[in-house]
Amino acid sequence: MDFHKPVNPSNLFSAERLVVVITGGGSGIGLAIAAALHQNGAKRIYLLGRRREVLDEAVKTLTSSPAAPRATSDDVATIVPVPCDITSPGSIKAAVAQVESTDGYVDVLVNSAGMIGPKHLDFYEQDSIEGLRDVMLRDWDLWETTMATNTSSVIGVSAAFLPLLEAANRRRGWETGKLTRARTQTLSKKEEDPQAKVDGDDQRLAHIITIASVGSFMRKATAGLAYNASKAAAAHLGKMMATMFAEWGIRSNVVAPGPYPSDMTTKMATAFPPSELPAGRMGSETDLAGLILFLVGKGGAYINGTVQVTDGGRLGVFPSTY
Ligand SMILES: NC(=O)c1ccc[n+]([C@@H]2O[C@H](COP(=O)([O-])OP(=O)(O)OC[C@H]3O[C@@H](n4cnc5c(N)ncnc54)[C@H](OP(=O)(O)O)[C@@H]3O)[C@@H](O)[C@H]2O)c1
Repeated sequence: MDFHKPVNPSNLFSAERLVVVITGGGSGIGLAIAAALHQNGAKRIYLLGRRREVLDEAVKTLTSSPAAPRATSDDVATIVPVPCDITSPGSIKAAVAQVESTDGYVDVLVNSAGMIGPKHLDFYEQDSIEGLRDVMLRDWDLWETTMATNTSSVIGVSAAFLPLLEAANRRRGWETGKLTRARTQTLSKKEEDPQAKVDGDDQRLAHIITIASVGSFMRKATAGLAYNASKAAAAHLGKMMATMFAEWGIRSNVVAPGPYPSDMTTKMATAFPPSELPAGRMGSETDLAGLILFLVGKGGAYINGTVQVTDGGRLGVFPSTY
């Protein structure tokens, strides 16, 4: 190791020139991630969601920030709204085609879209076994949509974008295709790739980041049973993908947020009183920005297969399996 090597945070934690796709990028956590990446040099950010008006509003929010970079003369805007339903294979395919025709590669895919599903907040208030039964069976028909949105989509979307993630590796000068274990260890990269403008110090491989939840690990029923089950599965799939793609040079990490203000949590604000959190507050855009810039930046290039919990200590004070 070279102990004289300059350490520059703005080089280590930068989204410079990255092409990023964010499902659920039009609001809440996805939008906060987009803001951090936009302000820190991302070449293009595709925001995926079903509601066109929400995506358009998100573009306005991001580009009107005093901290936003000035628009370039590029024909394609830096922030691109892509109406897409992540539970529909056809809709995902169309989104992939749009990104492919514009950029042809994706450095980072963020799976952030999600939903709460059936709520079981009043579980602990029940005084009778029939009460428990009724709460647990509430909105039973919503389980399928919840699992499709929070779990199946992680695989549906990640799989669909694999060729574009591999294209990002190829563009960066990495050897691509299926590599044997021995070849993985000797994975070689061109020192300088003028076309990609990737410097020799940049060791990053393409990256999938899945936004799971502290619900993935909590035994206490808070948001909802389907939510926790679907998020536990999402976190596990995020870990599995790191193993599944090891021979393919594609990284996968999981982010497990505790309570952050968003459309989702405003509807159930009483479920996450700050007094229950060692940090004494909900998460902020600063908390998310620090984590995402670490994960996508050069400083996070060695991070793969991990779960990054960002919860102000919440898991530590509830029965959890983490
Ligand atoms: N906020 C928190 O405290 C917290 C904590 C832990 C984990 N999370 C996770 O963080 C992620 C973002 O949630 P949030 O809190 O930011 O809530 P949010 O503002 O409600 O964001 C959810 C996003 O997902 C999109 N979405 C939902 N279903 C979709 C579908 N079928 N196709 C495409 N997009 C879809 C929504 O857009 P459309 O409705 O327009 O499609 C929306 O932009 C979720 O996965 C959530 O589980 C949040």
